[in-house]
Amino acid sequence: MSANYIKFQDVKKSYGSGNAQINALAGVDFEIEKGEFCILLGSSGAGKTTLLNMLGGMDTVTSGHIEFDGREVSAFGKKELIEYRRHDVGFVFQFYNLIPNLTALENVEIAAQLCKNPIPAAEALDMVGLSERANNFPAQLSGGEQQRVAIARALAKNPRLLLCDEPTGALDYVTGKAVLKLLYDLSKKRGTTVIIITHNQAIAPMADRIIKIKSGKILSNELNSNITPIDEIEW
Ligand SMILES: Nc1ncnc2c1ncn2[C@@H]1O[C@H](COP(=O)(O)OP(=O)(O)O)[C@@H](O)[C@H]1O
Ligand SMILES: [Mg+2]
Repeated sequence: MSANYIKFQDVKKSYGSGNAQINALAGVDFEIEKGEFCILLGSSGAGKTTLLNMLGGMDTVTSGHIEFDGREVSAFGKKELIEYRRHDVGFVFQFYNLIPNLTALENVEIAAQLCKNPIPAAEALDMVGLSERANNFPAQLSGGEQQRVAIARALAKNPRLLLCDEPTGALDYVTGKAVLKLLYDLSKKRGTTVIIITHNQAIAPMADRIIKIKSGKILSNELNSNITPIDEIEW
């Protein structure tokens, strides 16, 4: 078993073929330790979403190895990928992806029902401070509230890994900061390993680890020796 919780080894991912081939990941190596709050930083098209989708078992590598807690995710078959996505990984996306005709509570319950060891939906909503909005439909909630429901939905699975792809991309400045603070506090309180994708380098100082990616290659992977609380970061 590897000492590293998450490990990418020469991971490549290409789309298309021949002249039209795009190398979204061109040999990616990095490691992350358990419980870290990580920011994956890179400009648009750098390969961030591709990397997160590979780690989350939503897509498969062209070549290379991905390990999570001593298991080789990149060697998983279809069935193992389903189990892995269902039980180990929570996802948060830019556009919330809530089901419009279900209440906040029902949106969270759906995820909880899929899992072996869920956190009760009401408790998950409480963790994101939304108990009072449990019976509201998504359209009755602000963007920030909808994203908090989406975070509660991910948390209800009690995931070991929380992957967030531009979670504040659709939110205003203040709301975005509040969501980042929530994600950070939850990570520390629960010991969940969190990876946040962003193209906003201003927020990187809040992370335990900052990984920079460009043109499908890791530019740097550093532990942050000077962590700055998100409340103190301005941009
Ligand atoms: N399904 C796909 N088919 C073809 N090209 C893709 C696909 N997904 C991503 N790409 C390409 O791979 C590169 C990396 O994309 P992506 O990982 O989405 O970048 P980022 O999330 O950093 O903006 C881009 O050039 C993108 O156009
Ligand atoms: Mg992306």
